Amino acid sequence: MLKRLEIDLRRRLKAPVSLASARAPLAEDQLDFTTRQRLTGFTTAERRNQWLRGRSALMAIAAKLDIEPRLAALNPPCPGISLTHGERISIAAGISPAQGIGIYFGSWRQIEASLLRCFLTEAEQEQLTVQSNFTRLRLWTVKQALFKASAVNRGLRLTDFEIDEVAEITGRARNCSRANSQLRCTSFMLRQGLLSIAIED
Ligand SMILES: CC(C)(COP(=O)(O)OP(=O)(O)OC[C@H]1O[C@@H](n2cnc3c(N)ncnc32)[C@H](O)[C@@H]1OP(=O)(O)O)[C@@H](O)C(=O)NCCC(=O)NCCS
Repeated sequence: MLKRLEIDLRRRLKAPVSLASARAPLAEDQLDFTTRQRLTGFTTAERRNQWLRGRSALMAIAAKLDIEPRLAALNPPCPGISLTHGERISIAAGISPAQGIGIYFGSWRQIEASLLRCFLTEAEQEQLTVQSNFTRLRLWTVKQALFKASAVNRGLRLTDFEIDEVAEITGRARNCSRANSQLRCTSFMLRQGLLSIAIED
């Protein structure tokens, strides 16, 4: 499934994006000293497992990109690598370390129309003539992916990003808080939800 997704993703974004997934947590003895310290901060076993599963996906993407599998350096937000968690799977996306990338999975759920103004700009809301929950959830995942693709995103809001054509499944966007910032983004419908990926140009 992931191989097909990766081929389609590369075709859509016209970029050598790699994907890697993990369904099982990384064994704790594979953590380095710094990374192991993070484990003490988790209060639930669920989050601890999710985090370890995420480290497994990060190790897999490092192997695919042929970069040093040093977890402390791979920890998002970092340029060139992004990570998202589904209920039972974690997916990492990677590209060249000089380029920002963001991946976000949103499981099927209701996104109320009243929430749109929290993550869409006024121009984007005006474009939305026909609305469905599918579109609202898709745009939510795209906005999160765009946010993650900006390696320096502290303090940014989802409305700092603007999608050119909200109706397009694959399209362009920009970070309005930065001059000349161009991004490309696309979404995939999976059985459990929607997966969006964005890259910085
Ligand atoms: C950072 C953010 C995108 C993470 O979303 P999430 O719901 O936890 O979803 P995901 O499973 O897709 O992503 C989690 C992973 O993102 C990565 N991540 C965390 N902060 C990040 C950041 N600032 N930038 C990029 N990636 C980040 C981490 O790898 C994290 O997994 P880990 O903690 O196990 O390592 C989200 O918390 C956020 O801040 N969004 C933007 C602001 C927003 O949504 N505002 C609400 C407006 S209505």
